[in-house]
Amino acid sequence: MKKKYVLVPVVLIAAGAATYRLVNQPPSSDLPANEQMYQLLADAGCMDCHVAEPKLPFYASFPLAGDLVKEDARLGYRAFDIAPMMEAIKAGTPVSEVDLAKVEKVIQDGTMPMAKYYLVHWGSSILDSEKIIAMNWIRDQRAANYPNLLAAAEFANEPVRPIADSIPVDVRKVILGEMLYNDTRLSVDNTVSCATCHGLNTGGVDNKQFSEGIQGLKGGVNAPTVFNAHYNFVQFWDGRAKTLADQAGGPPLNPVEMGHKSFDDICARLAEDAAFTKAFKEVYPDGWTQANITDAIQEFERTLITPNSRFDKYLKGDKAALTQEEITGYELFKQYNCATCHVGENLGGQSYELMGLQGDYFADRNTEITLEDHGRNKETKTERDIHRFKVPGLRNIALTAPYFHDGTKKTLEEAVHDMAKYEVGVELTDQETAQLVSFLKTLTGEYKGKILTNDNMK
Ligand code: HEC
Ligand code: HEC
Ligand code: HEC
Repeated sequence: MKKKYVLVPVVLIAAGAATYRLVNQPPSSDLPANEQMYQLLADAGCMDCHVAEPKLPFYASFPLAGDLVKEDARLGYRAFDIAPMMEAIKAGTPVSEVDLAKVEKVIQDGTMPMAKYYLVHWGSSILDSEKIIAMNWIRDQRAANYPNLLAAAEFANEPVRPIADSIPVDVRKVILGEMLYNDTRLSVDNTVSCATCHGLNTGGVDNKQFSEGIQGLKGGVNAPTVFNAHYNFVQFWDGRAKTLADQAGGPPLNPVEMGHKSFDDICARLAEDAAFTKAFKEVYPDGWTQANITDAIQEFERTLITPNSRFDKYLKGDKAALTQEEITGYELFKQYNCATCHVGENLGGQSYELMGLQGDYFADRNTEITLEDHGRNKETKTERDIHRFKVPGLRNIALTAPYFHDGTKKTLEEAVHDMAKYEVGVELTDQETAQLVSFLKTLTGEYKGKILTNDNMK
């Protein structure tokens, strides 16, 4: 860019800035906490770059300067949509745990608003006193909406949380659900059950790039684990199932998974089993229906949580549960933004995020783009959702290779390296990768009182 072209817009921007707030003031402490936070974010210009249709400043119509502004707003909205958070603050409803972690991180690090923005919009940088207001507000939101009662006091405000030892379930439904989960009659040729692809002795996955269903037919996306799926806000990489019960209705009718034509066929086949039907009717008086079958499976899946990982013990206050290397790994996990997407009890499963935020993962992969690569866009058809996926939870991650929706990464080292490169924009040193991997290995928890293992890895 030649200098004289830059000078003109710079002068114009400086002039324009004079019409903006000249004095940097924190929101009045007389305001209710939510209003203070709203005003703080609005004054810092967050909504100028992080909503679908930002109100652009008057100089956005100028050449060069205008293009730069529009590019910041485009990239900002691509990285983070702040509208749901602003609406929630206004309505007094809970802000998502992911948005809390993201905003906490950028304010804590002082990376937002971008320096070039507050140099022009005088008064929009975040003051130390505002930082304190924001951090306190985030802490209070977490305490109110995502109570972390199991954690030691010093870890009560962490972006990730230990999981419960158990959750209340209807045991009679669980027993039926477990039987159905292992029942090959849910597949058209009696060869495949849920457990075929989600073995509980193999980390809840099949350790294949793509699963094999009936007659060895292959799908086009890697099978996520069923362990802790209960904690996901939606199910599937593209989020097309709202609940575990919705999800369980999918595979039996999927032509490459279990291949049935309809749930009526499944019900008819199960009805031939007099003993099972009798037991089922004791809990579900109207007998075999899709709703009842998937309800039972969902109830069973609610028991597939894996508490008491070494990491959870650490969060609960057992300092000796982790080695120094693993603790350093956890520190890096927070430092490098991992914990802004992999948040909460399942270290993920609460938002859709772009695969390739900081680099073109798909171009570098150098294989044809498949339908599954479109991710959330398959469902919404909106452009912003192309390559956006439900963030996978990271519990028991050491047992669930290969990684990513495309199953292309055979080792955790490769997955961690790629995450840092494509989601965070950093090249990790070998030592940092090793530390992060050591930390991730501490996320293996217990099922039925025993630490989970994977028979495929023995
Ligand atoms: C001038 C436009 C602009 C303003 C103002 C702005 N952002 Fe950003 N923001 C961006 C851009 C561009 C990115 C993407 C940066 C990248 O990908 O490296 C981004 C990234 C982010 C991210 C994603 C995290 C990350 O590091 O990738 C969050 C969260 C965020 N901004 C929050 C905020 C908040 C909160 C405010 C107000 C305090 C704010 N931003 C103000 C442009 C802006
Ligand atoms: C042929 C292998 C196969 C069978 C059989 C199968 N699944 Fe899956 N499962 C997959 C694949 C592959 C995905 C990912 C599909 C996607 O995201 O589009 C998946 C996704 C899931 C998810 C979502 C997890 C998440 O994090 O999003 C759950 C839960 C699940 N399956 C449970 C079940 C249950 C219950 C059954 C039996 C009714 C079953 N599966 C049968 C392969 C299988
Ligand atoms: C911007 C959000 C975001 C950030 C930041 C992020 N991740 Fe991820 N992570 C994702 C998404 C989305 C996927 C799924 C990508 C795919 O399958 O294509 C994923 C997948 C993974 C997987 C593989 C999980 C599986 O079951 O296949 C691991 C391991 C992982 N991330 C670790 C990390 C680590 C370590 C960091 C920090 C260096 C990190 N992530 C930062 C969003 C993020």
